[in-house]
Amino acid sequence: MQGEIAVLTIDNPPVNAGSHAVRKGIVEGIQAAHAAGASGAVLIGAGRCFVAGSDLREFGKPLVWPELPDVIAALEQAPFPVVAALHGVALGGGLELSLGCDYRIAAPDTEVGLPEVSLGFVPGAGGTQRLPRLVGRALAIDLICRAARIPATRAHDIGLVDALAEGDLLEAAIAFLKERRPKRIARNLTPPNEPDEAIEAAAAAALRRGKGRPNVAEAIRLVKASAGDAQAALADERAVFQKLRLSADAVALRYLFFAERKAASIDGLDMSAARAVTSVAVIGGGTMGQGIVRTFLAAGLPVVLIERDEAALAASMEKIAANLAEQVRKGRLDTETADARKAALSGAVDYSALSGCDLVIEAVFEEMSVKKDVLSRLEAVLSPEAIIATNTSYLDIDEMAAELARPERVLGLHFFSPADIMKLLEVVRAGATSDAVLATGLKLARKLGKQPVVARVGEGFIGNRIYAAYRRRAELLVLDGASPQAVDAAATSFGFAMGPFAVSDMSGLDIAWAMRKRQAATRDPKARYVTIPDRLCEAGRLGRKTGKGWYDYASGKAQPDPEVADLIEAARAESGVTARGFDTQTIQRQLLAAIVNEAACLLDEGVAQRASDVDVALTNGYGFPRWRGGPLYWAYQQDRAALRADLDALAEAVGPGRRTGPVDRILDQIEIPQEG
Ligand code: NAI
Repeated sequence: MQGEIAVLTIDNPPVNAGSHAVRKGIVEGIQAAHAAGASGAVLIGAGRCFVAGSDLREFGKPLVWPELPDVIAALEQAPFPVVAALHGVALGGGLELSLGCDYRIAAPDTEVGLPEVSLGFVPGAGGTQRLPRLVGRALAIDLICRAARIPATRAHDIGLVDALAEGDLLEAAIAFLKERRPKRIARNLTPPNEPDEAIEAAAAAALRRGKGRPNVAEAIRLVKASAGDAQAALADERAVFQKLRLSADAVALRYLFFAERKAASIDGLDMSAARAVTSVAVIGGGTMGQGIVRTFLAAGLPVVLIERDEAALAASMEKIAANLAEQVRKGRLDTETADARKAALSGAVDYSALSGCDLVIEAVFEEMSVKKDVLSRLEAVLSPEAIIATNTSYLDIDEMAAELARPERVLGLHFFSPADIMKLLEVVRAGATSDAVLATGLKLARKLGKQPVVARVGEGFIGNRIYAAYRRRAELLVLDGASPQAVDAAATSFGFAMGPFAVSDMSGLDIAWAMRKRQAATRDPKARYVTIPDRLCEAGRLGRKTGKGWYDYASGKAQPDPEVADLIEAARAESGVTARGFDTQTIQRQLLAAIVNEAACLLDEGVAQRASDVDVALTNGYGFPRWRGGPLYWAYQQDRAALRADLDALAEAVGPGRRTGPVDRILDQIEIPQEG
């Protein structure tokens, strides 16, 4: 007690996850406050944050009393007002708990949000009812369905947080509470009036983004119902939550949640060896270099950009500045932040500008000789402790570092395009990479807001290697009789963000063409080879950038093109193939079989550490549907005999030169979090 105010502190390190013990403790605390004659109560978190969310480990099992709605009922029955004092984060059940209080006061750097939809269910303790009563239904639909995390300053602007606390949070909360009476959001408030069109527009956008997943539709329905009777809607919300938390989507997304946390670590690696990274440099300001610079600047790190000459440097710097201006124009960035980022960037052509950098990442042309030259020049100017990272997509990092005096300082940091948007970061552990350097890479990934996955050196590491096998299977399906549009449609109806041919057109067919030319001399002459993409390139059809590729883009949209159909027919005739039909399911299962087989091969070789890491890579970097948990999780759910039949069909279609991965053994390693 502080005077007449009871202070209830949630203390469940590291993030105050809302476990059974925490829920029970709050109910008991409220009862004790009542017994002590308190005139008000403050609910506050000890340590890093208020409450980072409910404890997901409890979600697959029957929940034990008191559940979160019971805790909120106890708060609402107290005869005094309760204020939630937020700092760090208040997410999911944590934010719902605070919405069950009468008021919320937050330290300015707090982040709040309801991420439940991204985990396959809906908020289940009043989030869909109390949030719209404070911020309106259109905005509530948007925030809930995007699983958005917003800063407290914005939460204050929209009425989700009542006050921002400068200085001591507890003192501010107590002072705030002295003036207040109970408010009881669900009982006493109704959502503000809004035009129906605004609500419908938010709902339509959310459904589109949510790919029609059932929990998104339910979240929208529940928020709309907040205009009616609160008690009925709260009961409805709870019932939907109870059903959806055990749904296939939710179980898969929970698996992925734990897989992502595991992927950011290596068993036995001492993370405390990680070095501080306070100033970085990027060599090469092309497509990737610019994106990497933007990523570092967004994380608040000063960056030096090096280009090969003044003209190239000026062009890169201009493009980065233009991108910042564009972000401001679109309202994604305020002018002050954009100016601060611009000020944190400097450019140079001379490597002497790098002497104070802790970490340098090269993103120059994908040429071994160019990379080697850059690395040796870097070693000459950097301090002995400074780390050198390469963004190479395919090249052998061991060979790249072999001639350096300190190869242990080199690792791969493989970003995906666009580097500031894509979540995945492959952290490549080369043969000589030291533990301290690896730990630094993993820690840096987190600082940049990326999802790291550790790979060993090997052609295409994890993601690109699997993707190449997938694309090859897609091309063979076309050679054997499917149309590119049928293959793309099968992939998107499975849930991929885009089909393989639409992706090729977007990234440009010339990259893979150059690689095939490089590999021509070492290719197994007996292996089946699909000439269609070569013919497309020879015809100048390099994808979207030339207006034509697998599709024609003259109308602005991808359209099938008779010229491509003729090319495909000619390739079939040339290879002596008689076209046959493939149904959607066969196409999908063959694409999946190719992914699963290649994943098993690279896991067998030790390129990836764990099966779940492959799932993390494919869902974070390659548009694999998250709600399916990833390709190996998907395979794990399948009937093994049917999966083996798919793998046999794959082996037959790929023909000589194929590799067969130990799929059964790999799938047996998958750990599914315990479900009740
Ligand atoms: P890019 O051709 O757009 O950019 C390369 C830049 O490096 C150019 O601006 C060039 O002027 C500069 N450069 C070349 N030699 C240099 C040197 N000695 N010193 C300083 N600057 C130099 O190429 P992109 O696409 O940005 O690729 C760069 C690297 O990133 C490659 O290793 C590539 O494999 C890798 N990568 C590319 C991805 C993509 O989607 N484009 C994705 C992931 C990795």
